[in-house]
Amino acid sequence: MRLIHISDYDYDSMQLAKPIFDSKKRVLLASGRHVHPKYIERLKLMNITHMFVEDNISRGINLDEMIDMPTWMDAIDLVQDTFEKVEKNEKIDVIAIQQLAGKLIVEVQKRPLLVLVPVSTIPRNLYPYAHAVNVALLSVQVGKRLFLNQLQLRDLVIGCLLHDIGKIKADEDEGHPKEGFEIIRKIREFNIVSAHVAYQHHESLNGTGYPRKLTGQDFHKFAQICGIANQYENMVTKKQIPPHEAMERLMTMSDTNYETSIVHAFVQGIPSYPPGTKIELNTNERGIVIRLESQLQRPIVRTLPDEKIINLEDHPTIIINGLA
Ligand SMILES: [Fe+2]
Ligand SMILES: [Fe+2]
Repeated sequence: MRLIHISDYDYDSMQLAKPIFDSKKRVLLASGRHVHPKYIERLKLMNITHMFVEDNISRGINLDEMIDMPTWMDAIDLVQDTFEKVEKNEKIDVIAIQQLAGKLIVEVQKRPLLVLVPVSTIPRNLYPYAHAVNVALLSVQVGKRLFLNQLQLRDLVIGCLLHDIGKIKADEDEGHPKEGFEIIRKIREFNIVSAHVAYQHHESLNGTGYPRKLTGQDFHKFAQICGIANQYENMVTKKQIPPHEAMERLMTMSDTNYETSIVHAFVQGIPSYPPGTKIELNTNERGIVIRLESQLQRPIVRTLPDEKIINLEDHPTIIINGLA
């Protein structure tokens, strides 16, 4: 299985590997079938730009590092429901959010690595909610590497799921962290830390963030985790920057925007070249990442077209030049 841009879809050689959902989160196309060109046109109209396919070059790649689609869609559904309830001044389902947080923590903890489902695989109206879920998933992956306990992880995840909820009330973008803080802190069942995650997620260690230009000690660790996850998620999905490049940009933020330990935890938990990525090696060969083992930045590659298996861990002189 691998992720492709829908314009690269080939009817004869590719099957859909994950279902495609419509704007109401109903299954539009089930996995396992070929996608007729007229559907590709429909997907374009819905702003769905990427899809997961099974084809010959990606055979044997399973992407188990990724949360499964139904769980992901359920999470998106609950975040959307929560945003809409807040907008209508209705009571939100606190227990459902706490349960979702618990579920996301389990999903991430059972995997050594985390690969995101890109928001570009679903209709655009769902982007903000999928973004929140992805930021929450990333935050668990980082939190786990920083040895946060279950309660801390839960407060962090709830803060991340709701980090942008202030956008519902804020007139301009700069106002949404404060609005989010006000919304979350009024929900007594949530820890005030979750509200601070929303309040501080656009701050920066060096004082260049907003809304309060916090520095150093005042910038809560959980908010830093949410901040870095938010930046990464926006880069890879909204701006369509490839994961390895996004990762390099994050590394430059170490010590300036976020504490080094947090940047490290991030870099060590999220692969730059997820399975299914087509890459170019410094040996002038092209290949596809088939698996990741202990060393994140040194994946196992199958060359194309001659299908040689190279474990980059065993070949320190072979370097990934970039995407193929
Ligand atoms: Fe934000
Ligand atoms: Fe965000």
